[in-house]
Amino acid sequence: MPAQIIDGKAFAEQVRGKVAAHVARLKEVHGITPGLAVVLVGEDPASQVYVRSKGKQTIEVGMASFEHKLPVETPEADLVALLDKLNADPSVHGILVQLPLPSHINEDLVINRIDPAKDVDGFHISNVGLLATGQKAMVPCTPLGCLMMLREQHGSLSGMNAVVVGRSNIVGKPMAQLLLRDSCTVTVAHSRTKDIQAVCRQADIVVAAVGRPEMIDGDWIKPGATVIDVGINRIPAPEKGEGKTRLVGDVDFESAAKVAGAITPVPGGVGPMTIACLLANTLTACCRSND
Ligand code: GUN
Repeated sequence: MPAQIIDGKAFAEQVRGKVAAHVARLKEVHGITPGLAVVLVGEDPASQVYVRSKGKQTIEVGMASFEHKLPVETPEADLVALLDKLNADPSVHGILVQLPLPSHINEDLVINRIDPAKDVDGFHISNVGLLATGQKAMVPCTPLGCLMMLREQHGSLSGMNAVVVGRSNIVGKPMAQLLLRDSCTVTVAHSRTKDIQAVCRQADIVVAAVGRPEMIDGDWIKPGATVIDVGINRIPAPEKGEGKTRLVGDVDFESAAKVAGAITPVPGGVGPMTIACLLANTLTACCRSND
């Protein structure tokens, strides 16, 4: 039987609807409008698309959006000064610095300058530590979106074998922490993992976050497993015409969908959930700041 397709777009719409309803109540009852500041340094085309989309969706759920676009040559000290200003601004509840930053700027220093309570990306070292020790943290948006879809699919994840393919700070590592917190048995596989196919094949849940187009084939998947594909890779698509491209995930969708029990598509799977979770995190940060 072919896999159930997990509709991330529809799920993200539901999440945004709940956030919007909560924002409306906050305004009505307490006169508070949650605010999200997004900082973009330089003109990376993919980052510009993401930032535009974040700003648009922030406004759509009734929050205040503050966009700060800085030139590529912005000195690190100027970016730090802006973050200090945003940290001190009571109308800003969430701060996101779009990555990657230009090479002359120290990413760790910048991320750790954000007030951890406003760190809606969950990248600040305090939030990383809080998550790893099972304490109340801001949780990175993409893994949070994946977890929400898995919980929706399975209810409890307790005792399931989960394999996370990829060990990035943004997705792989926090994903593993979240699955562990939900009592999965977690394996983190990566480019040096021996017999990675066999490792994946024993998983009830596979989360693919390696950034390699269609690397995970259907014969890596245990029949009936749930496959969450975080990858967004643009590859040439000569069948659509010369110079054309298409988006694919880290999983070979066609072969994996024949084996899996459920699978997220690319596009329309994890992607829409990431921004929905960013808005949910901004709301959480706002509520905690007014506790
Ligand atoms: N660049 C790619 N993904 C992300 C993300 O989740 N947050 C930030 N800040 N930058 C990114």
